[in-house]
Amino acid sequence: MPLITFEGIDGCGKSTQILMLKDYFEKRKLKCSVFREPGGTVIGEKIRDILLDNQNSIMDPKAEFLLLVASRAQLVHEHIKPRLELGEFVIVDRYIDSSVAYQGFGRGLGKKIVTFINEFATELVYPDLTFYLEIDEKTFEMRRKEKRDRIESEGIEFIRKVMEGYSEISSSKRFVKIDARVDQNQIFVAIIKEIERRFNL
Ligand code: TYD
Repeated sequence: MPLITFEGIDGCGKSTQILMLKDYFEKRKLKCSVFREPGGTVIGEKIRDILLDNQNSIMDPKAEFLLLVASRAQLVHEHIKPRLELGEFVIVDRYIDSSVAYQGFGRGLGKKIVTFINEFATELVYPDLTFYLEIDEKTFEMRRKEKRDRIESEGIEFIRKVMEGYSEISSSKRFVKIDARVDQNQIFVAIIKEIERRFNL
C-alpha cells in the first residue's frame, strides 16, 4: 500500500539510501519495488534519454516538463498503481515533487500549473511519505560530478531556485526533511526510525 518517495538535489545521496531501504524491506520479507524518474518503464527510459541528452540544449521548459510527466504517467499506470493495489511497498527515486522544485521553481513554470498537470498524470496518486534529503550549496559543489547530464549542467542560480522550491514544499506533513550532509549510516538510521514509526514495523 505505501508509496515512499525520495527527493533532493543532485548529490544528496538518494540512490544509496534507496538501496539500503530496499535491502531492509527484503530482509524482513516485505515486498518492495524500486523505480526511478524520469524512467522506470521502457517508454520512460526512452523519454529519459531525450531529457538528459546534452545535445538537446534548446529544449523548451514546457517541453521538458511535459516529457517528464509523460514518463511519470506511464510509470504510475504500468507499475506504481498495480503494485500499490497488491499491497506492496513502492519506492520511487524522484516523483511529483521533483517537477515542482525543478520545473515549477527552477524553470519558473510555477507551482500551480505543475501541480495541476502532475495530478492529471498520476491520477492523484500521492506519496504516503517523502524523504527530502537536504544538503547545502557547499556540499552540492563538493559532490558535483564531472560528467553531467543536460539538467545537471545548469548553473548554481538554477539549483538555488530548486532548493528554494524544496524548502517551501517540504514543510507539508507528508515530508520528512533529513540533514543529508552527514554520514550515510546516520541518514539511514533517521530514515528507518521514520519508516518504523509510520508503518508500525
Ligand atoms: P536523477 O536520475 O536523480 O539524476 P542522477 O542521474 O544523478 O541519479 O535525475 C536526473 C535529472 O532529472 C536531475 O538533474 C533532476 C531532473 N528532474 C527534473 O528536473 N524534474 C523531474 O520531475 C525529475 C523526475 C527529474
